[in-house]
Amino acid sequence: MLDIAFVKPALPRSGALVLPLAEGAEGVPALAGLAQAIDAASGGAIARGLAAAGFKGRKGQSATLWAPALEGGAAGPARVVAIGLGKPGELTPEAAEAAGGGTLPLVGAEREAVVAAEALAAPHAAAFAFGLLLRSYRFDRYRTTVKEEDKPKLERVAVATDAATAAKTAWAPMRAVAEGVFLSRDLVSEPPNILDPEEMAERCKVLEKLGVDVEVLGPKEMRKLGMGALLGVAQGSVKEPRLVVMQWHGAGGGKGKKATTSPVAFIGKGVTFDTGGISIKPAGGMEDMKWDMAGAGAVVGLMAALAGRKAKVDVVGLVGLTENMPSGAAQRPGDVVRTMSGQTVEVINTDAEGRLVLADVIHYCRERFEPRFMIDLATLTGAIIVSLGHEHAGLFSNDDTLAQQLAAAGKAVGEQVWRMPMGEAYDKALKSDIADMKNVGGRPGGSITAAHFIQRFVGTKAGPMQTPIPWAHLDIAGTAWSSKDLPTVPKGATAFGVRLLDRLVADHYEG
Ligand code: BES
Ligand code: MN
Ligand code: ZN
Repeated sequence: MLDIAFVKPALPRSGALVLPLAEGAEGVPALAGLAQAIDAASGGAIARGLAAAGFKGRKGQSATLWAPALEGGAAGPARVVAIGLGKPGELTPEAAEAAGGGTLPLVGAEREAVVAAEALAAPHAAAFAFGLLLRSYRFDRYRTTVKEEDKPKLERVAVATDAATAAKTAWAPMRAVAEGVFLSRDLVSEPPNILDPEEMAERCKVLEKLGVDVEVLGPKEMRKLGMGALLGVAQGSVKEPRLVVMQWHGAGGGKGKKATTSPVAFIGKGVTFDTGGISIKPAGGMEDMKWDMAGAGAVVGLMAALAGRKAKVDVVGLVGLTENMPSGAAQRPGDVVRTMSGQTVEVINTDAEGRLVLADVIHYCRERFEPRFMIDLATLTGAIIVSLGHEHAGLFSNDDTLAQQLAAAGKAVGEQVWRMPMGEAYDKALKSDIADMKNVGGRPGGSITAAHFIQRFVGTKAGPMQTPIPWAHLDIAGTAWSSKDLPTVPKGATAFGVRLLDRLVADHYEG
């Protein structure tokens, strides 16, 4: 991970000097601080160069000036990179973050970069660094032939600011969140022969170093608990399923002590490879189904983020891990399975496996923890991509407050969600002729009937009132993986959900 520091301003003698600049009244934006210092030291070459490049400081604009000659032959930066921030006074943390992300490709070939952030408020300076860091993620584990000149060189970023103390305070939790994002991206990027359920459970144990309690259940425990739906999905694979239970006690109890409040709960679909099972998928694009564990990956990354920044909240994260494979032992269309809740399910389509996994994990979560709310994340349906594309995740909820909080948190961090309708009529589509329900509701509204299936396992709070547990389901099939570079998300695993849910907790469920 990039080393990021907040320092007193001083001109660098090598590497990159980054100038985040707001639009000027006309022509080249006003240069202050280090920007002005390097312009003066170069006899005005910076202002002339930016003018020649047509750089106005507009949002998304950039210009690179190479090795400006400094007076007296003094050593200076190898490149000066100007980044547009848009209209002065209109900068938001999100825009600062995007500008930072956009900077990375322009400086990545240098070993060190200094960001002249004197004109930015401390939270904006930290956000700029956060964007830069998030964009720097790479998954190179399996490349053995990258040419030296193609390797990223950037190691250190010094953010020059007169408000270093305030910026450092804003930075500390961001760094922890970035760690969670990177952990999640690593898990989702791994190929399915390496990251099977057992390996993923093993990797969850790195959270123990952060003070998270990690328990791993295997098929024996699952059989004892009666998790017939999860086990039905797993039975076609030679790989054993796992259920990982992660607990962070941050509300005051401290590690090991009993939770003082009922925890908030996050549940992830962790299908480490989804062939479809006997209802097998077509070959084209099937490799994408290695990231059918992105919901689980987000939950693990979220736990790392919350524990890493010592969030004042009691939280449990549960991930149901299995493969979905065809074999002589695989579950068949027409099979009836008994879930842990006692409800029976006719498996019409073995490719609708995520909801079967979630059914048992959600029921287990509710029974064991009686959580304050449950939020599940799952790459659940192709239909949500048809509905929302790759710009929003589908949000389904039985609770308006929770839904609104999620929508607001998503806007704030750039992981947007769009609430989808639910209702009795959709639920009816799950009627089965032989069991309590079937696992698919047909093509129309496929994401919605999938959400209704899950909702049947959410249950109610303890006591006679039959109050439903507040619940939200995020269908992240369209947002878990990006086919192109985005400002703060390089092409590949996005870790969608880590920042969103970290922000939800920070804004509403701490202290
Ligand atoms: N993992 C898939 C959903 C998916 C599709 C995720 C494309 C990411 C990209 C899920 O298990 C699945 O196969 N869903 C089926 C449900 C259908 C059989 C009712 C689908 O969406 O086709
Ligand atoms: Mn499937
Ligand atoms: Zn799946």
